[in-house]
Amino acid sequence: MINDKLPKIWHGGDYNPEQWDSKEIWDEDVRMFKLAGIDVATLNVFSWALNQPNEDTYNFDWLDDKINRLYENGIYTCLATSTAAHPAWMAKKYPDVLRVDFYGRKRKFGSRHNSCPNSPTYREYSERIAEKLAERYKDHPAVLIWHVSNEYGGYCYCDNCQDAFRGWLSDKYGTIEKLNKAWNTGFWGHTFYEWDEIVAPNMLSEEREDNVSDFQGISLDYRRFQSDSLLDCYKLEYKAIRKHVPTNIPITTNLMGTYPMLDYFKWAKEMDVVSWDNYPAIDTPYSYTAMTHDLMRGLKGGQPFMLMEQTPSQQNWQPYNSLKRPGVMRLWSYQAIGRGADTILYFQLRRSVGACEKYHGAVIEHVGHENTRVFNEVAQLGRELNQLSDTLLDARVNAKVAIVFDWENRWATELSSGPSVSLDYVNEVHKYYDALYKLNVQVDMIGVEEDLNKYDVVIAPVLYMVKEGYAAKVEKFVENGGTFLTTFFSGIVNETDIVTLGGYPGELRNVLGIWAEEIDALHPDETNQIVMNEVRGKMSGKYSCNLLFDLIHTEGAEAVAEYGSDFYKGMPVLTVNEFGQGKAWYIASSPDAEFLVDFLKTVCDEAGVKPLLAVPDGVETTERVKDGQNYLFVLNHNNEEVTIELQDSAYKEVLTDEQVSGNLVLKEKGVLILAKV
Ligand code: GLA
Ligand code: ZN
Repeated sequence: MINDKLPKIWHGGDYNPEQWDSKEIWDEDVRMFKLAGIDVATLNVFSWALNQPNEDTYNFDWLDDKINRLYENGIYTCLATSTAAHPAWMAKKYPDVLRVDFYGRKRKFGSRHNSCPNSPTYREYSERIAEKLAERYKDHPAVLIWHVSNEYGGYCYCDNCQDAFRGWLSDKYGTIEKLNKAWNTGFWGHTFYEWDEIVAPNMLSEEREDNVSDFQGISLDYRRFQSDSLLDCYKLEYKAIRKHVPTNIPITTNLMGTYPMLDYFKWAKEMDVVSWDNYPAIDTPYSYTAMTHDLMRGLKGGQPFMLMEQTPSQQNWQPYNSLKRPGVMRLWSYQAIGRGADTILYFQLRRSVGACEKYHGAVIEHVGHENTRVFNEVAQLGRELNQLSDTLLDARVNAKVAIVFDWENRWATELSSGPSVSLDYVNEVHKYYDALYKLNVQVDMIGVEEDLNKYDVVIAPVLYMVKEGYAAKVEKFVENGGTFLTTFFSGIVNETDIVTLGGYPGELRNVLGIWAEEIDALHPDETNQIVMNEVRGKMSGKYSCNLLFDLIHTEGAEAVAEYGSDFYKGMPVLTVNEFGQGKAWYIASSPDAEFLVDFLKTVCDEAGVKPLLAVPDGVETTERVKDGQNYLFVLNHNNEEVTIELQDSAYKEVLTDEQVSGNLVLKEKGVLILAKV
C-alpha cells in the first residue's frame, strides 16, 4: 500500500491555493472537495518564490495553514518540494541556475522546469528547502507522500554541465584512450587528447535540429549524463527528506510516460513508488495509453503506481484542447486502475485565473460552483472510489507476454543517421503492443534488466542496441522453452553505438539462426509483401510491410514467409528458429496491423498464452489479481453499447455487487469490473 493511512484509491490532485488570497475561496474549495469525494491534495508544487522570498528567509506559514485547513476536513496532503521553478531573485543573483539551451543560448528567468541540473546554486538551495520542509512536516499526520520537484526534464548545455560531463566521462572511461575507442573518434579526425577538448554536443557541435547526431557515442553519453544529472538533483532532495521523514512515508516524483529525455528505468530505482501524469489527446489510440500505463507499472517490476495527474476535462497545451466527452474521464480512470494505478489524481483542483493554465480543465471551473458536468463526473467517480475501498489496492497484473522497452536503445536508434528518418522506436513498439491489445492478451512492458523467465513470450522490437550479457540472457530464456521475437534493425550495435562485426543481427545471430546482409529503406508509402510459404496458425496468404527491409539468409532458422517483390523477392521476411526447448522469431520488415494480429495470435497460441476474454472491437480488457481473486476490467471505448459474452463464467460485478453471467450489455463508455466467482 502506498500509505496505509488512506487505505483506498486516493482521489484528488494538484491544488494551488497560493494563487488566491481569499478565505472565502479556500472555504469554498474545501466544501466542494468534500462534495467530490476528494481526499488528497498535492500542495506546494510551484511555490518556491513564496516559500523563500530571499536568500535567508523561509516562510511556510501559508503552507501550515493550507495543510491544516484541509486535514481538519479529512483531506490529506501529497507534499511537493516546490523546486520545479526557481525564484526570480535567485536567477538574478545566481545566473548559474539558468540553463543554456540546445542552440547555445543562455536562458533568462521565465517559465518553469528551467534550472540547470549542474548549477551549484540550484543544487544547494533545492536540497536546503527540501530539508527545511522535511524538518517541518516530518510528523505531520496529513502528509501521505512526498512529491519531489515536478516533471523533471529537458537538457542543459552550459559550461557547468560541460565540465560535469567531462568528469562523468572520465569516471566512466578512466582514460581518454578508452573514450576515443568507445566513440570511434578516428572518424572525421575527432581524436581527443585532453578531457577539456570535449564539448557539449548541441546544435553548436555534433547535433542537428532533428536530433540526429554526427557522433552517436558522445550524444548517447550526453543523454545518459543529463538524465543522471537531473536524477542527482532528485536524489539530493530525496536524501534531504529521508534524513527526517520515516520510511513508511514514500517519496516520489511525477514521470511523463514515454517522455524521451530521461531513462525512467534508472529513475524508478530511486523512487519508492512510480507516479506519472497521463494526458492523452482526443485521438491518442487507447492502446497507446494502455501501453504507457503498463510501462509505468513495469518500471518497478509490476508494483502498482500512482496516477499523479490527469485532466478532468481538457488540456491547454495541445493544439486543439478537446473536452473529454461524457463518461470518458471515468472510463480512462478505470483504464489506469485496471493497469495498476492505485490513485486517481487530477491536474488541477481549481482553475487558475491568469497565465497559461487558465484554460486547463479543473474540478472547480471558473464558474465556481458544483453544478457542472465535469464536477458531477468527478463526484460520481469519488463515490465509486469510496465504495471500492481497498478491494483493488496492491493488486497485481499477471502477464505471460512481455515487450522490451529501453530508453538507451531508443536514443541510439533515433540519433542514428540512416537508414530511415521515419523509423520511430516507440511507434514500432506500439505496433506490437496494439496487436496484443486487440487480442486481449495482457502484456508487461519491461526493461532490459528484467528477469525473462517468468514470461512465455518476450518481444523486443527494434533491439538495435544489445547490451552486454543480453544476448546470453535471451539464449537461456529460449533454451528453456521461451519464445523470443525480434525485428529488423536489431542486434546492430553495442552500448556505445559501435557496430558488432560479423553480420547483423550480431550477438542475436545464434539464437535467431539468420544473418542479414543488407538493409533497404524505402519511403514509408512504398510497400513490399509478406508472402506466407504455407498456412501457419492464423497466418496465411499475403500481408504488407514497409519502412525497412532486411535482406536475410537463414542459417538454421526456417523461412516462414518471403518478400513478394523487388530484387529480393523470394528472400525470407519472417523466420523462426527452434533453439533448445523454445523458438526465436525474426521479422525482417515493419508489417501491417493485420499481419501483426494474425502473427501474434499464432505466437500466443503456440506458446499457450490465453486471451483474457473475447470482446467486440473498441472494448478493452485488463486484469488485476489480489489474494487469488481475479478482477477483470472490461472498458467500452465505443460511442455505442456493446454486448459482452461472458461465456461459461460467472462473475460478481464489483461496482454494483450484482451476480452476472451469460450476455451483458455494456453501454457506451461503460466500465465493468468483474470478480470471478
Ligand atoms: C503537467 C504539469 C502540471 C500542469 C499540467 C497541465 O503535467 O505537471 O503542472 O502544467 O501538465 O496539463
Ligand atoms: Zn547546465
